[in-house]
Amino acid sequence: MLRYAVFAALLSVALACEAFPNNTQTTFNWWQCYDSKISYFKTTPEDASGKVEYPIVLSKPLNVVADIDNKGSVYNSLTMSIRIWEWGGFLGCQWNEINTFGLLSKLDACTHGVPCPIKTGRQTLTMTIDFSKFQAIIGLLKNNAPYQIEITLKDNSSGDKTCVMAQARALTH
Ligand SMILES: *[C@@H]1O[C@H](CO)[C@@H](O)[C@H](O)[C@H]1NC(C)=O
Ligand SMILES: *[C@@H]1O[C@H](CO)[C@@H](O)[C@H](O)[C@H]1NC(C)=O
Repeated sequence: MLRYAVFAALLSVALACEAFPNNTQTTFNWWQCYDSKISYFKTTPEDASGKVEYPIVLSKPLNVVADIDNKGSVYNSLTMSIRIWEWGGFLGCQWNEINTFGLLSKLDACTHGVPCPIKTGRQTLTMTIDFSKFQAIIGLLKNNAPYQIEITLKDNSSGDKTCVMAQARALTH
């Protein structure tokens, strides 16, 4: 009886999870993870034709258009690492990191959609992230669900790091 009650309580917690937390149903949330030489004023997900894309579509290249100011140096060799979280889970409503088996870490940013070199000063930087190259991961993700995505760029020579976090509703096929 007690076991049943505990199970029922867990289940009701799981069921009470909002489908799209933090307004991700209609809103692209983003923020800069920490202070860095690069400051971000705005980031917008766009499709290949330059239209704002929401929900984002992970089965084809996604443009992330960022209004930035680079107070560091000209960055021409960068390492990109991406982390992804899904929403929900039996332990309550929270973001749970998806194991991507290292496939999305320590990528050569300049050949994975970052237009190198990143010059200094205020500029529009368009990063093209092609998750479809990582079908082994994308194929496992639930379609039309909220995801949290963190993109970190690290300069190979100075070690300068910059990071943006986003929460978005995503289509995976
Ligand atoms: C919700 O999104 C905003 C940005 O739109 C962000 O600052 C905040 O940390 C997010 N809240 C949670 C709980 O993830
Ligand atoms: C920077 O480091 C990344 C990850 O180690 C590597 O893939 C890339 O080739 C490096 N870039 C240059 C220009 O050396």
